[in-house]
Amino acid sequence: MIRVNPHYAQLQTSYLFADIERRVRAFQQRRPEVDLIRLGIGDVTEPLPQACIEALHKAVDEMATASHFRGYGPEQGYDFLREAIALSDFQARGAQISADEVFVSDGAKCDVGNIQELFAADVRVAISDPVYPVYVDTNVMAGRSGAWLQNHYQNLVYLPCTAATGYAPQLPDKPVDVIYLCSPNNPTGATLTRAQLQQWVDYAAAHKALILFDAAYEAFIRDDALPHSIYEIPGAREVAIEFRSYSKTAGFTGLRCAYTVIPKTCMGWDGDGRPVSLHALWSRRQTTKFNGVSYPVQRAAKAIYSPAGQQQVRTLSDGYLANAQRIRDAFQALGHTCTGGDNSPYIWVHTGSDAWEFFDMLLEKTGVVCTPGAGFGRCGQGHVRISAFNSAAQVDAALQRIRAVLQT
Ligand code: MLT
Repeated sequence: MIRVNPHYAQLQTSYLFADIERRVRAFQQRRPEVDLIRLGIGDVTEPLPQACIEALHKAVDEMATASHFRGYGPEQGYDFLREAIALSDFQARGAQISADEVFVSDGAKCDVGNIQELFAADVRVAISDPVYPVYVDTNVMAGRSGAWLQNHYQNLVYLPCTAATGYAPQLPDKPVDVIYLCSPNNPTGATLTRAQLQQWVDYAAAHKALILFDAAYEAFIRDDALPHSIYEIPGAREVAIEFRSYSKTAGFTGLRCAYTVIPKTCMGWDGDGRPVSLHALWSRRQTTKFNGVSYPVQRAAKAIYSPAGQQQVRTLSDGYLANAQRIRDAFQALGHTCTGGDNSPYIWVHTGSDAWEFFDMLLEKTGVVCTPGAGFGRCGQGHVRISAFNSAAQVDAALQRIRAVLQT
């Protein structure tokens, strides 16, 4: 008898964005005349930067010749990309990360889920509330969550991020082993300061805990005082793993390329309290289960670091940030408190009403898709997340419809 993983039975409904998509499709069937505007899932709409396109074409042509053809690449990524990452994304900011501490992958979402294979089944996990659902659901699948108790999982430690905490997670009041942090935050758009991150690094060092730092939206930071990487914080090399993605930075959601950084000094602990290199474990895992990202895609990613590529990705994120600013201004003018949208492509809007009801109302009356805050956790109730990932024209059309309905 093939018995299934019993932990899947603890998952609540389906994956949030799959659930939303189902509702949207049902709406479209019922109201085919409505021209939908999607400000829900954070999926990019603008084409790839020209530098990436050129690099892709060139790499495909290389693959067409016997002399330049490449088969399996290194599981951790080609050196040309790992070196560019270490230099531009870390060393240039004073963070001491070397190329061999970078693991190139096909997505931050996969890495964030897969990394847990390195941890014991009974480690205690802390997550922010609201939270990117992948952190929760992957721990449920792995059997770490315990039972679902009406509105939370028994064994997860929830760190409320509300207006009262400035949307930042506070240190837990019970010991935890793994801490998920995301800055700029998905879903709230809030950012963590150096001082706040230092607190977490110190906590992790004192408790032999590990921080999983998701920096997928780092490219949207414009405030020079904010850290882009956790490795800008003293002590982080010992206690943190960082996840980055080209999805939002360079429009790679359909192309797929990301990376994870595990410093060689970052340790887990065995049952006898002896240190174990997480870098070595991840390397073992990846060489066993992953055959690397395709050569053309890694060439496209490398092109981001060329002078032209840097300028083009900046233009992309500037465009989305300009959308974010207009969305935030519009909701504030309508009397809603907002966070995010300045160093982030997400705007977290306090509606005060039931989040799914607001989602349905907005869809019915305006044809605009948002994401109900309750889908991200208990503390997301009374909020919706608006994504700035769309064209300027579509964002303006959405705001016009929203004003017409919400203005009293
Ligand atoms: C989101 O909308 O939260 C993201 O697009 C989801 C993701 O990056 O997986």
